[in-house]
Amino acid sequence: EVLVSTASAPTNIAVVKYWGKRDTKLNLPINSSLSVTLHQEDLQTITSVAIGKDFEGGDRVWLNGKEETDLASNKRMQGVFSAIRERAGDVVDEASGEVLVPSAELKTYKIHVVSRNSFPTAAGLASSASGYACLVKALSQVFRVKEAHEGELTEIARAGSGSASRSLYGGYVKWEMGTRDDGVDSRAYQVKPEEHWPNMHALICVVSDHKKTTSSTGGMIDSVRTSELLKFRAENVVPARMKAMEEAIAAKDFPAFAELTMRDSNQFHATCLDTYPPIAYMTDTSHNVSRLVHAINNESSSGPICAYTFDAGPNAVIFLEEDHVEKVLKALLADFGPDSAESSEPFVRGQTTLP
Ligand code: DP6
Repeated sequence: EVLVSTASAPTNIAVVKYWGKRDTKLNLPINSSLSVTLHQEDLQTITSVAIGKDFEGGDRVWLNGKEETDLASNKRMQGVFSAIRERAGDVVDEASGEVLVPSAELKTYKIHVVSRNSFPTAAGLASSASGYACLVKALSQVFRVKEAHEGELTEIARAGSGSASRSLYGGYVKWEMGTRDDGVDSRAYQVKPEEHWPNMHALICVVSDHKKTTSSTGGMIDSVRTSELLKFRAENVVPARMKAMEEAIAAKDFPAFAELTMRDSNQFHATCLDTYPPIAYMTDTSHNVSRLVHAINNESSSGPICAYTFDAGPNAVIFLEEDHVEKVLKALLADFGPDSAESSEPFVRGQTTLP
């Protein structure tokens, strides 16, 4: 017998960044983080999983049309597979309640995964987040996994990629760093659903869709090893910032949300530059976008109306409330759009709205 399941998962953008691990095997972070889930069809992963007793060649995975040739040495993927198999439930006939496949047998089924992203991989749009979140969703469905406690699936996704823990929920999501060595308290929780702040929007500005030069995983290892600023940030800045960010979101206080978001992005990139040798994710265009956002905000008498954030790549995500979308998009396109002087690379590829 073959069982199949398909899931989709969105990407997310951190407004308090995860950077640095205390355990690289389980992806346990040195600080908590908070993100906004980007609910847009062209920014997601879609994953289909088929499992069966008699699949030849064991477990197999195809990512964006290409088979993973060395799956056995992909520790993250293997970790997700075994965490899911461990928790497999019985396959039960819904009408009669009869057990069709007992969990002990289901665990032995081989896994075939086909996964596709709707956006450029490794361009700094955190595709590993939607990728692992989606894998965990699809596998947990097909293996009949029920969470033993809230957020258990986010722990499994986290071991695949840290930021993936936050992509299992919509809206505003925090990932508590936890303190335990086994990671059981390092889980994600929804802070507020999307509908809480219905006029919040995000503009995705693709400065470059080239593959990033330093992976998050490698960058974090170097930063933890060499940056004094990173340690200071994790211990002395992030705890209060998490609290302030949660309060800003609860109160829908856009100026507070905007300042915290921009300061956090800036500090994350400062820790990258403080890494030795330094890591530079932002390009000249990224810095020009930042300057434009500050110029727009300086004209406003009621505090910032838009906020940038940059992940481990040059692309900008700009948060703003609906009333300001037209004006800000126009300014961005004037400076960086197809007809501008800086148009050598693609820019403002898409506009996404929340929800
Ligand atoms: C800058 O989650 O990609 O986007 O855990 O090694 O897979 P791994 O790293 P990853 O790092 C994301 C870093 C970030 C900030 C964030 O999303 O919080």
